[in-house]
Amino acid sequence: MTTAPIRRQFGRGATLFREGDPGDCAYIIEHGAVEISAGEGAARQVLATRVAGDIFGEMAIVDSKPRSATVTAVEDTQVLVVSKQQLQARIQALDPVLRMVLGVILDRFRDSVRRMSGEAPSAPAQDAPETVERFSPLAEYSKAFERIELEQTVKHAVSAGEMTLFYQPIVRARDGAIAGFEGLARWNHPLHGILSPGVFMPAVEDSGLMGEFTRWAVHRAAEDAARFARAPGAPENLFVSVNVTADDICDPSFVDFLAHTLDAVAFRSASLELEVTEASLASNPKTAIDVLGKIRALGPSISIDDFGTGYSNLTYLTQYPVQKLKIDKSFVDKLNQRSQDSSVVASIIRMSHAIGLKTVAEGIEDAGQAETLREFGCDLFQGYLYHRPQPFEACLAL
Ligand code: CMP
Ligand code: MG
Repeated sequence: MTTAPIRRQFGRGATLFREGDPGDCAYIIEHGAVEISAGEGAARQVLATRVAGDIFGEMAIVDSKPRSATVTAVEDTQVLVVSKQQLQARIQALDPVLRMVLGVILDRFRDSVRRMSGEAPSAPAQDAPETVERFSPLAEYSKAFERIELEQTVKHAVSAGEMTLFYQPIVRARDGAIAGFEGLARWNHPLHGILSPGVFMPAVEDSGLMGEFTRWAVHRAAEDAARFARAPGAPENLFVSVNVTADDICDPSFVDFLAHTLDAVAFRSASLELEVTEASLASNPKTAIDVLGKIRALGPSISIDDFGTGYSNLTYLTQYPVQKLKIDKSFVDKLNQRSQDSSVVASIIRMSHAIGLKTVAEGIEDAGQAETLREFGCDLFQGYLYHRPQPFEACLAL
């Protein structure tokens, strides 16, 4: 494989590329200067001069259309090459709405340049040679529209009470008895029925609704925890957990909100549990330790969710005021396949016990996994092997 050079040098007067060429990279000027021009012969117009620190040649990469102008070195010039792949990977990572906006701005810009130089504005379908990978406005736009629409309907759904929590029972490893429930968000969509978080959570996050959504879920879980606790014949210490991120709980008003909620539902108990993902804790462990301590003081207990996926700093693990550690499903999936993977799980359980934490294994699907986890001393089991998530009333009946 030949790799493209990272830097290139051009002598004064050299042409880097011409208007209409297909584009394969953009450039950042390290030293020197270039002139950007459009048109040929007498119609040639200088559009701009670019100097050290400027980027050029980005348009053809962003919208996969031919070069909009000719670029010539006006001094001896050195450029840093930005590959098509580097730039496009970043554009793909953008929100589809922003991608659409970028495409629209570039189209308008190209049209104004054409109009200024007396050419007709282009019909978008004809201006890219076949060799150029096409930017497909329609596909891009429909993604953007879908996204805008989804965000609007999610916003409505939260306020219209269409969001609900399903509960997945978590059982004791030793006898399979139900020890508690994890609350899992579902959207009870008027047309499409019950939708999973994978479908709507990205829209919740991107539309800035995450804080509101989490508070709704915590309130709901606290209410349901109280209802579970008061149900006739309910086992003692039945816990109900709900998922939050460290960002949610580190919001300065969260602890007050939680105190209010617990008062409102008259349920200040360690049976309400907040599951905080390990990954989210890792970004600001010191604040998290402080906030988690305040939450504990109000009653609720805390577990670390998706453990093993978040590269957390083990020195902090002993400082978090947590009671449980949930072993991520990816570890459970690998159990009994390679002895190394099983050993990792055995060590996580041993370590948890050594620092006084209970362990929950997530996503158990077969009896072999359960058997191994039981041998390792795992305390609690969660997974389709035992129970699927279900509505509150169905869990109450269990
Ligand atoms: P691209 O179309 O890939 O190749 C030519 C480059 O010239 C273009 O990307 C921009 O980086 C730059 N360019 C085009 N038009 C102008 C302009 N009017 N002013 C400054 N830079 C321009
Ligand atoms: Mg969880």
